[in-house]
Amino acid sequence: MANNEDLFKNIISHSKEYGYIFPSSEIYDGLSAVYDYGQYGAELKKNLRDYWWKSMVQMNENIVGIDAAIFMHPTTWKASGHVDAFSDPLIDNKDSKKRYRADVLVEDHMAKIEAKITKEVEKAKARFGESFNEETFRSTNARVLENQTKLNDIHTRFKNALEANDLADVRQLIIDCEIVCPVSGSRNWTEVRQFNLMFSTAMGSVSEEAATIYLRPETAQGIFVNFLNVQKTGRMKIPFGIAQTGKAFRNEIVARQFIFRMREFEQMEMQFFVKPGTELEWYERWKETRMKWHNSLGISSEKYRFHDHIKLAHYANAACDIEFEFPFGFKELEGIHSRTDFDLSSHEKFSGKKLRYFDAEDNESYIPYVVETSIGLDRLFLAVLSTAFQIEKLNTQEGEESNERVVLRLPDFLAPVKVAVLPLVKKDGLPDRALELFHSLKPHFMCQYDEKDSIGKRYRRQDAIGTPLCVTIDHQTIEDGTATIRHRDSMQQERVPMDKIASILREKIDASVKA
Ligand code: GAP
Repeated sequence: MANNEDLFKNIISHSKEYGYIFPSSEIYDGLSAVYDYGQYGAELKKNLRDYWWKSMVQMNENIVGIDAAIFMHPTTWKASGHVDAFSDPLIDNKDSKKRYRADVLVEDHMAKIEAKITKEVEKAKARFGESFNEETFRSTNARVLENQTKLNDIHTRFKNALEANDLADVRQLIIDCEIVCPVSGSRNWTEVRQFNLMFSTAMGSVSEEAATIYLRPETAQGIFVNFLNVQKTGRMKIPFGIAQTGKAFRNEIVARQFIFRMREFEQMEMQFFVKPGTELEWYERWKETRMKWHNSLGISSEKYRFHDHIKLAHYANAACDIEFEFPFGFKELEGIHSRTDFDLSSHEKFSGKKLRYFDAEDNESYIPYVVETSIGLDRLFLAVLSTAFQIEKLNTQEGEESNERVVLRLPDFLAPVKVAVLPLVKKDGLPDRALELFHSLKPHFMCQYDEKDSIGKRYRRQDAIGTPLCVTIDHQTIEDGTATIRHRDSMQQERVPMDKIASILREKIDASVKA
């Protein structure tokens, strides 16, 4: 754990040092759980957003993209259920005065018991080697059985309490599980209360006339209220999808873990409208499609897993998360929800406008059911960045004294800068030749020109921001028109004709897309 904590701290400081992510309004000491993306962060984020958009919208003839406003009519949030039900159960520790999400305290406690079971299994596996049968061990070992029973009991009680909205029992469960405040170490807990997560503001210049409106807590509602506009103008036939990326806002109480849980963040959502009765089939298809998409980013499939929801949201008849193994453990990266016809029916009721689809094939009119895929762009960013970040010991030193390098092994197609053009020295006509190449590449790729410091230092700078290729222009270039290409991951160098560089780069970037 200590190692992962160190790794996470290193990622956070690297992000700041190399222009990926800054604390928001840092000169005023920052704003809690709000971050700004710097010059490289903004590029990586854009590349991730573009890749999602391409796979969702460009590659699917039956999915179109929209860009709805952040501000929406206040009744939207009454209809969606967010005014009444978008809240977290909170509990305070009276000694430390720290506030926690009650459900997170219980889930963390369950994760600890699960970790104990895994440890027992791992120990036995190491002891018995080849002859080890995990299933038999799990069903016979006394310590595993005891912990598994404990876990099942907590799980059942927790699920029942959440479903019945029995906050007193959630509190009692925290007490019965002997969960202590991580800061004070005490069990001196307040009651559990619900706290609405929506930010509100006032619209209109005269305050008396101002209407309270909310900053959208999810982008999905902008899709639902435009369902008929898009269906009619795009002559869309069911099944079809509407995709959207954009900012969402939640007044998270326990905002932590860097950009994992923020108060202002970006979502990439897609609502897929289907015929009632077919939604669970589509739900399974989208689960599979989205997992494949994650695997196309070139990250090991072991880093992902599905997690079925214990408590279904008010609108869902099936729901799961794709969890990712962040440096602080497996956590939600994307949600896939079968939202039934809840949203459209509710908007129909609140607006008095029909939101139905006429199915010409079956000659019937109905409110479509919806399967949603919803991923946080910032979480995706963190998943990609934390996997790419590596500190490597080096044998070859490329003219540098340090025998260590920090490298972002980003998939090439996602890297903020695709190629750096570097004259070996700042004289003998090398900068002119390098600039000529740089200007010819920049209409096609994000490029950088750098002539400052030794070549070794410049390679390290490019490694640290994840640039897949560096091209070095040297004296031989003037003689025979070849240059050195240096690959980020292998640090291998090769000489190539200058006029081949653009196509080598294009091939390398294309090859890194695994979809
Ligand atoms: N429309 C459905 C919806 O919003 P959600 O599970 O609440 O579902 C979807 O959110 C995704 O948005 C999550 O899987 C996560 O990636 C991202 N997300 C949610 N809250 C977030 C926060 N406070 N900070 C960063 N990302 C967040």
